[in-house]
Amino acid sequence: MNTAYNSLLDPDSLRQGAEAKLYDCVYLGKPAILKERFSKKYRHEELDKRLNFARLRAEIRGINKAQQVGVKAPAIYFVDTNRHILIMERVEGPTAKDWIESQRQRAEEEFKVQAKFGEVLGGEIAKIHLSGLIHGDLTTSNMIVKNGDPGNLHLIDFGLANSGKVIAEDKGVDLYVLERAIQATHINCEHIVDAILNGYKSVNAKQGEAVMARLIAIRLRGRKRDMVG
Ligand SMILES: Nc1ncnc2c1ncn2[C@@H]1O[C@H](COP(=O)(O)OP(=O)(O)OP(=O)(O)O)[C@@H](O)[C@H]1O
Ligand SMILES: [Mg+2]
Repeated sequence: MNTAYNSLLDPDSLRQGAEAKLYDCVYLGKPAILKERFSKKYRHEELDKRLNFARLRAEIRGINKAQQVGVKAPAIYFVDTNRHILIMERVEGPTAKDWIESQRQRAEEEFKVQAKFGEVLGGEIAKIHLSGLIHGDLTTSNMIVKNGDPGNLHLIDFGLANSGKVIAEDKGVDLYVLERAIQATHINCEHIVDAILNGYKSVNAKQGEAVMARLIAIRLRGRKRDMVG
C-alpha cells in the first residue's frame, strides 16, 4: 500500500479479493473501507491500468446510479484514479452469504424472514434494472445485510456494472448469475430464489414479464451447455 494511505488503515483488517485489496479505515472520523485494485503482473501493464481504471469507474457510476433510484449502496468518500483506490462508507453487518447461512441453521419459522430478504433483494435489483443499470456480479458476497436487518440491504462491488443500452437479456443474465450463485453457495434455498423473482416482478410488471421470459431461455441454454459439457 502506498505510504500516503498507511496512516488511515488498519493493516490487520486486510481482505484480499480477486482484483482488490480491502482494508478497514477511518475517513474524516467515519468507519470506512479502502478498496485498492492492484496490478496483475501477468497482464500487460497498459492493459492492466486500463482495466483497473474501467472497473473503478464502473464501480463509482454504479454506486451513484443505484443511490439515485433509492437503492442502498455505500457512500463514496474519496477516489484516487491514479492508484485505483476508492474509500467508501463501511456498511456494518454480515454479507448476505453469511446472513443466509446463519438463518439456515435456525428453524423453519425463519422462512418468513428469508422470504422477506428475497423480496427486498428482488425489488432492489428490479429498481436498478429499471434505471438501465446492470450490476454484473450479483452474488451473496456482494451485498450486505446492514445490522442484520434484511429490510436494510446494501448492494456493493459494482466493478463489473454497466449502464447505457441495456436489454432484457442483460437483466436476465444478471438474475441468472444470482440464481446460480445462490444454488452453488446455499443448500435448500429455492424459496429465497422464488422470493427474489416475486420481489423483482412486483416493482414493474412489464419489465418483470420480459425479463422472466429471458431468464427461462437463459436457464435452458445453461442446461444444454451442462449436458454437452
Ligand atoms: N462498503 C463496505 N462495507 C463493508 N464491507 C465491505 C464493503 N465493501 C466491501 N466489503 C467487504 O469486502 C468484501 C470484498 O469486497 P468487494 O466485493 O467489493 O471486492 P472484490 O470481490 O474483491 O472486488 P472486485 O470483484 O471488484 O475485484 C465484501 O464481500 C465485503 O465482505
Ligand atoms: Mg465481491
